[in-house]
Amino acid sequence: MSKRFYITTAIDYVNGQPHLGHAYEKIIADVIARARRSLGQEVFFLTGLDEHGQKVQQAAQAEKKNPQEYCDALAADWQAFAKKLELTNDDFVRTTQPRHKAFVQATLAKLHAAGHFYKASYTGFYSTKEETFLTEKDRLADGKFDASYGEVVELKEDNYYFRLGAQQQWLIDTIEANPDFIAPSYRRNEVLGFLKNNKLEDLCISRPVARLNWGIPLPFDPDFVTYVWFDALVNYASIAAAHPELGLWPADIHVIGKDIVKFHAVYWPIMLKAMGLPLPKQILVHGWWQKDGAKISKSTGNVVDPIAVINEWGLDAFRFYVLRELDIGPDGNWTDAGFRSRYQAELANGLGNLVNRSLSMLKRYRNGIVPAKSNELAADAAKAADETRVLFKQSQLQAALQSIWGLVNRANKFVDETAPFKLAKDPAQAQRLDEVLYNLAEACRVLAVLLWPFLPGTATKIYAQLGLTGSPDKLDAATWGGLQPGQTIGEPAPLFPRKDV
Ligand code: MSP
Repeated sequence: MSKRFYITTAIDYVNGQPHLGHAYEKIIADVIARARRSLGQEVFFLTGLDEHGQKVQQAAQAEKKNPQEYCDALAADWQAFAKKLELTNDDFVRTTQPRHKAFVQATLAKLHAAGHFYKASYTGFYSTKEETFLTEKDRLADGKFDASYGEVVELKEDNYYFRLGAQQQWLIDTIEANPDFIAPSYRRNEVLGFLKNNKLEDLCISRPVARLNWGIPLPFDPDFVTYVWFDALVNYASIAAAHPELGLWPADIHVIGKDIVKFHAVYWPIMLKAMGLPLPKQILVHGWWQKDGAKISKSTGNVVDPIAVINEWGLDAFRFYVLRELDIGPDGNWTDAGFRSRYQAELANGLGNLVNRSLSMLKRYRNGIVPAKSNELAADAAKAADETRVLFKQSQLQAALQSIWGLVNRANKFVDETAPFKLAKDPAQAQRLDEVLYNLAEACRVLAVLLWPFLPGTATKIYAQLGLTGSPDKLDAATWGGLQPGQTIGEPAPLFPRKDV
């Protein structure tokens, strides 16, 4: 039996409410997870929250809450959000959970004992307001630091460092030997460019408790907590270890955004090497969404509230738009007009209209009873199914939707060409009408199967309207001819109500 397919998302900071960018990433991972299940693989899908560190501590302080209570309250919202998106995650990690903390501490102890860390003091310019060390790059042209940093003081601080530098050449060789390790390839080239043109500094993996206490204590020195990224990255392994019977590690895909590539493609592989664990198969990097051509930002109010969109338009319309609009890699731009236009053209007039008119005609002209099999659209359906199968394995979700819409458009054109409403008026055309109606109903069934990973609710509704029990969740069912003559379909109802806007 093949190993369970293990896919993860970045774990989000719990310092606010989920937004479009978080939703997008989780939907990508969910569709890949569902697609793999549809292909017959066993899958483990992990998502969760990054709860330690300065950002979260500051956010809790701003609300005068203790950090754990603050995280507990927000974690409930984030978990409800995962449900709202109908994510099929198999676990939900919170980095404050004992199972994770114990694993991080055991890892730290092991690496410390093996000589991967050293203690050193660092002197630098520290912004008390931002609670961070500034670098030469943060200086203005006149040599001063921007007023937004508040008071900047020279500070000497002891910390623990992880020997990254020694692994630079190993990492370059590893990335070069594994072309799919970082995808898309331009992200891989960026990482290689960075590694070849810069000297890799050792990584500071601790923070003095005096400065930050919201973190996992270093097991070998009580004066320090673990740097939040060292803690967070380990979640992928700690949760794998929490399910030892599943043999999850190495992960197959880490889905992440473009801003955190260095952590995943540089620090994490070197950490794993030190831990004696194999590397994940792929780091799949998506781009960032803007809204109306500007950065998404709470302070300027330039936001997309996924929950409001879902409540107004339905979950599947939201899932569809983000994956159809934006390929995994480049940056995207959300516009309300673009969303509405895809909803109207592709969902309401495209898929929705096809299913509704096909089933309504079958109901009206044949009393809802499926006629004898016919194969006119079989080749078009097979093409879409074959392409989808290949594209699912490559995580090419936008291309898969394009291929599937090839079948939607073909079937809609078939209605126009064959004009079943005319055939229905001529008793001599009864057999031709049977053929047309079978092809349309069966095309709808195949579409439900192909679309299930993307639009699980819609796919399930199509199956129910066809009178089928069971779920369209296995790609093998996309084979033409699955709909049996003589069976009675259910009630047709619009899948994507048209909206006057
Ligand atoms: N906590 C870290 C990740 C640790 S993973 C071991 C973090 N959290 S985050 O909440 O800031 O971001 C979580 C994910 O959301 C990241 O992959 C990030 O790229 C993604 N996005 C945040 N804003 C985004 C957009 N505007 N658009 C698309 N994705 C975005 O980083």
